[in-house]
Amino acid sequence: MLRAALRRLGPGPGPRLCARGSRGCRDDGGGGGGGGGEGEGRSGRACFTTPIFYVNAAPHIGHLYSALLADALARYRRLRAGPPVRLSTGTDEHGLKIQQAAAAAGVAPAELCDRVSAQFRALFRAAGVSVTDFLRTTEARHQRAVHHFWGALRARGLLSKGLYEGWYCASDECFLPEAKVTWRPGPGGERRPVALDSGHPVCWTAEQNYIFRLSQFREPLRRWLRDDPRAICPDPFRRTVLQWLEEDLPDLSVSRGNSHLYWGLQVPGDPTQTIYVWVDALVNYLTVLGYPDSEHAAWWPATHHVIGKDILRFHAIYWPALLLGAGMSPPHRIYVHSHWTVHGQKMSKSLGNVVDPSTCLERFTVDGFRYFLLRQGVPNWDCDYYEKKVVKLLDAELADALGGLLNRCTAASLNPTGIFPEFCTSCFPCVRGVTSKAQPEDYALVRAVSALPLQVEHYYENFQIYKALEAVSSCVRQTNSFVQRNAPWKLNRENLSDARWLDTILHVTLECLRVFGMLLQPVTPTLADRLLSRLNISETERGLQDINFLPRYHGQPCPFEGRRLGPDTGLLFPRLDKTRARATKIS
Ligand code: ME8
Ligand code: MG
Repeated sequence: MLRAALRRLGPGPGPRLCARGSRGCRDDGGGGGGGGGEGEGRSGRACFTTPIFYVNAAPHIGHLYSALLADALARYRRLRAGPPVRLSTGTDEHGLKIQQAAAAAGVAPAELCDRVSAQFRALFRAAGVSVTDFLRTTEARHQRAVHHFWGALRARGLLSKGLYEGWYCASDECFLPEAKVTWRPGPGGERRPVALDSGHPVCWTAEQNYIFRLSQFREPLRRWLRDDPRAICPDPFRRTVLQWLEEDLPDLSVSRGNSHLYWGLQVPGDPTQTIYVWVDALVNYLTVLGYPDSEHAAWWPATHHVIGKDILRFHAIYWPALLLGAGMSPPHRIYVHSHWTVHGQKMSKSLGNVVDPSTCLERFTVDGFRYFLLRQGVPNWDCDYYEKKVVKLLDAELADALGGLLNRCTAASLNPTGIFPEFCTSCFPCVRGVTSKAQPEDYALVRAVSALPLQVEHYYENFQIYKALEAVSSCVRQTNSFVQRNAPWKLNRENLSDARWLDTILHVTLECLRVFGMLLQPVTPTLADRLLSRLNISETERGLQDINFLPRYHGQPCPFEGRRLGPDTGLLFPRLDKTRARATKIS
């Protein structure tokens, strides 16, 4: 009767639920205790994840950005001596969105999935994303995991069948409350309902579904976020989630009738229903850890999810609630990033402004494009992409500043023996005195580069990779000024005192370069390898514990001093804009 009344008024204020018996259970508190503060706990293991990508369209730079953020975090973690670090990614292949995309393309869904999944795999391989597991949700191991997870929810009494109705958006694969739906003219001019945020068309649906008692988890979720203030990072996104948790948290439909959604995993024991694609997709994070076999317990909840802001609700509310429901802990961390626009516009197929990441990798090189996205991408805000910006940044920071610095200090004109030169303590004593040739600014450089590794560590911990790169770049600039100021090319090697100072300048600069190379490894692995190989730093000397900047300054031996430099393999990063010569040229 209530439904009939609402029907007369038009679609009501939100996805409405008429599940038998579910309301009565609202306060029974079942389904799991507080949060999993234990996180990485005992083992120090870590698994980083990217979202799994929809295969309805080819990858774009936003997808690559998601993957690179996770890759840089994983690579940084691997620089610490410690247990193995995993990085999982993959493709999200079920659901209405894919079913419709395949129909529109006139191919079988499986064929579309194979084709586009392969594109993502190839892109990540080309971009140097250090994936340890690529999961496709159409794999048998995943079906096993999802079915097991479903069973765990059912066993705990958290699933019930009932009538569910509301606006459904196939593109976004979610139900929307009335307040999030608006009417706009469609392609044919007639007004149609669309999702307020994404602009994608929505459809009124009413059917028998399985319903998950999400409403029961409001308090446990709030407790989790209150007890672990770092669970969602950056903090504004955590506050957004806490705000959502102030609002009504309706129960969630977790299946669809298979008469209109056949492309998905069947509800175990009920051939009429297909599991909701988001439940299917989220469980990927467990599948890659070997769930439901016991091996996953060594890894869960030591998982760090990297996600875009558009899928925050799914990861920060639905997923932890489902996990708590299945008797597990929420993930250790959720890192959230914003979106890339292109020339100020949202990227979209209809606007024809989708930027193909493979073209970018070719044009700007793999390391160049990785550096650009991670240096310019600020998780808190949307960032704008245009080609000129890439060229300008890479030429300034990688070609001129960093490449130029390496070139200068390894050039035969300044360093004819090709040996890592000797540091002279009386030229650069740690307490400035009469013999000192170093000036206050030179001491400031040593202080800045000494502080850099800890600063970078802090930024990685806080998901501010762009700030880590900004800090490295600022030190590179400072090192260039150091060389410029002390003009080693004006010193005379024939004169002993000059020669000592000259070698000290080079020694300090090469030590700075070594630190930069080590700290850049997670972002520009190939370029860092070239830089470190040129300095003849072996693979076993490149971990964070090996940084120990400028030991001679502190009266300790330097393992590199006197060592032959590695072979000259050419420019570290060739300029992209060849029309402009380098600003500073030295003899
Ligand atoms: O959401 N800039 O997949 P997806 C930056 N299958 N990032 C962007 C972006 C942009 N312009 N556009 C999209 C899905 N992304 C689900 C995930 S996980 C269990 C299931 C990001 O292919 C987006 O924020 O639509 C998301 O993190 C990722 O690309 C995948 O988006
Ligand atoms: Mg999307």
